[in-house]
Formats: sequence, structure tokens, C-alpha cells
Amino acid sequence: MSALSIEDAAQVVRPPAAGLPYLRLDRAGEVVLDGGALAIDGDRIAGFAPDATARRIDASGCAVVPGFVDCHTHLPFAGWRAAEYALKVAGRPYEEIARAGGGIAASARAFAEAGDEQVLAQAGALAAEMLAHGTTTFEGKSGYGLSEAAELRALALAQELGARVAQTTDSTALLAHAVPPGREAGAWLDAVAALVPQTTATALDIYVESMAFGLDDLARMGALAAANGRDLRAHVEQFSTMRSVPVALEAGARSVDHLACLHPDDVDVLARAECAAVLLPGAEVLGDERVAPARALADAGAIGVLATDLNPGTSPITSLALIVGLAVRRYGWSAREAIMAITLNAAWVLRRSGELGSLEAGKRADVVVLDAPLEHVPYRFGHNPAAIVIVGGEIVHVRADQAWRIA
Ligand code: NIG
Ligand code: FE
Repeated sequence: MSALSIEDAAQVVRPPAAGLPYLRLDRAGEVVLDGGALAIDGDRIAGFAPDATARRIDASGCAVVPGFVDCHTHLPFAGWRAAEYALKVAGRPYEEIARAGGGIAASARAFAEAGDEQVLAQAGALAAEMLAHGTTTFEGKSGYGLSEAAELRALALAQELGARVAQTTDSTALLAHAVPPGREAGAWLDAVAALVPQTTATALDIYVESMAFGLDDLARMGALAAANGRDLRAHVEQFSTMRSVPVALEAGARSVDHLACLHPDDVDVLARAECAAVLLPGAEVLGDERVAPARALADAGAIGVLATDLNPGTSPITSLALIVGLAVRRYGWSAREAIMAITLNAAWVLRRSGELGSLEAGKRADVVVLDAPLEHVPYRFGHNPAAIVIVGGEIVHVRADQAWRIA
């Protein structure tokens, strides 16, 4: 590890103050886009003056941003479900596909059939793709196991994946994703209660939906999380309005994710809470879901977050830049709102915002040099803007046409 001096940037994107755990999006207008330099010493950000002794990176015309944090993916999973997507596009609803044996159950069968190395090879390739698109930290969930042993296997593979990839990773135990075939929701949650202490996952997750788990199960998962010292996260209000958010907040949730069908009366209560609103516009668009009330949430001061939801069913998307493009167009968000939603605020969901997620002296040097100013990220929809990706002070990816920038 050595020192790096990123110089002459058009923008060095920073929060309005140092030490913020998150930025409520009604303050996103204060995000600083001034140009300049960023110095890295070892694995840390050293400061904002050029360092003449360090290896120089020419960032002229570029935005320098924190490494992207994808706080909601379903890695690891096995195989894909392209045929289901074709059915969905032709008008078949997700619930109907799931009830016919597709959906989560189909991915659980694929996971059971795949060997460990096969699962790790697929997930590792996806992690490399994410890295090349600027994602330097990601979370992954279990949830395609649907049995005690298979859920533990998924969490063990997630840990192994973390050891093999360049990124920082966290795993979430999504132990209530679908009611396992032949079991009943309540009985499965009894099994989950016994499973939690056997895992090291930092958060528990549950899918609340008419075809999955109910509000009582959500409250129970919250109690389980509290009793085991884990965070509660929840997939809520994706396909129907169940008024899950007040229940999740009461249960102490750190994030509520999806929210396409959020009830208008729940916008303010969520925005005022210390709970992130994790929006997944990739799943919304590809799943033909409703549009989350994202503009209202941001205006009301929510801790707004964007993530890919990378999974074989609703969102086979690896690029957070693409998600930003969707969010800005679909939600009427600014590029400033979107960048906070994939960096500092996403890091807060993972309890890592003290350590990474913004360009601040002393923080971990996870940095992306974009090939253009920030506003180009949503504008050049589908383009990969990540020119140089740095993790912990190491240059881990350089786009072929950008190598000239590095001395
Ligand atoms: O976040 N909605 C629940 N879970 C996933 C999809 C799971 C699947 O279809 O494989 C989601 O959208
Ligand atoms: Fe999800």
C-alpha cells in the first residue's frame, strides 16, 4: 500500500459536514461538489490537498466520490430465472408465478442443486462486475435456502464470498423469505428463533407480503432481532399496502425496503424515524411495480437509500449507477440526493458510516473516480461511469480507456 494523490478533480463530492452518520435527504442540496484534490495515505483518506510525494491520479473533468455501498442484494444465489421474466413481461403477475412453483422456491431448488464452488463462482463473478461499476461495499442475504440447513449453508457461503472478494461485505439472515414448502409460517418462525443464535449475520430480514409473512411475524422477527442483538430489516409494501411500516418502526427496524406501495399516511412517520427508507427502483421497473413515494420521502427528510436488490427474480441488476439513473428519472431526485443514497446513507444501514461511505479524513479510502461530473451518472443512463476504483487505498479496477490517468 502506498500513497495516492487524486488531483485536479472537477468535483470532490462531500457531505455538508464531517462526522454525519447519515444525511436526511431534505438536506441533500447542501452536498458539496467543489473541485480539488484527495490524498490517500495507506488505507485511509489523508485530506484534501495534493500530496507531491504520492502517486498522482489525474482526475481532470472527473467527479471523485466515495465507493458505492449496495446495502440490499440477495447474494449468494444460484442460476437465473429469465423464463419468468418473459412471463412477467407478457403480463403474468409475480404472485401467480410464485404460487405455480416459480419465484423464490425455484431459486431454492437451484441453490440446493448447485455445489458450493458453483455458487461461489457465480457470486464472485457478480461481485467483480459490481466492483467494476464502483461498488466497494455490499450486503448479501440468505433466503434461498428455505430449510434450517440450507439457510446456514447460504450464510456460510456468504462469509466465504466475503473472504474472496475485494469489497467489504456484510450478511443478513433473511430467514423468513418464503414459507418453506410443507411448513406453516408460525412453525417456521419457531425454527427461525432456534436458528438465529447459530448465525453471525448482523441483521435479520423478513419478507412481509400476502404470499409470504404477516404483520405478527414481522413483530416477532423484531423481538428476535432485539433479543439476539441484531438489526431488523424488512421487505415491505412491495406489491401491496399492508401498513407494515408502523409495525416495523415499533419493532425498531433499521431499514424498511421496497416501499413501492407505501401508504401516504406512513410517509411522514417513516421520514421522521431513525430508520432508512431503502428504495429499489430496479425491482420496481422490471417488476412493473408502483412508484415508491420517493419525492415525498426525501422532502420530508427521510434517510433515503438506493440499492440494486440484485436477485434472480425481481432485479438482476449489478450497477448502482443504473439504479441512480432510474431513481433520478422515476422519483424526481437530484444527483446529490442519489449519491448520498448509495454512499453515506447506505453505509449507515450497515452500521459502517463511521468508517466509510463519505470522503472524510481518517475514513477508509474507498474511492471511485468517475469519468465525468456527478450529473452525468443519471444522465448517461446505462453507461458505466467508474473510471478508477480504489478499495482501502488500493487501486483495484481501472477501466481500460482510463489507464492514462495514473502516473
Ligand atoms: O427483494 N420480494 C422478496 N424478495 C426479493 C425477490 C425474491 C425473488 O423473486 O427471488 C426481492 O424482490
Ligand atoms: Fe430484496
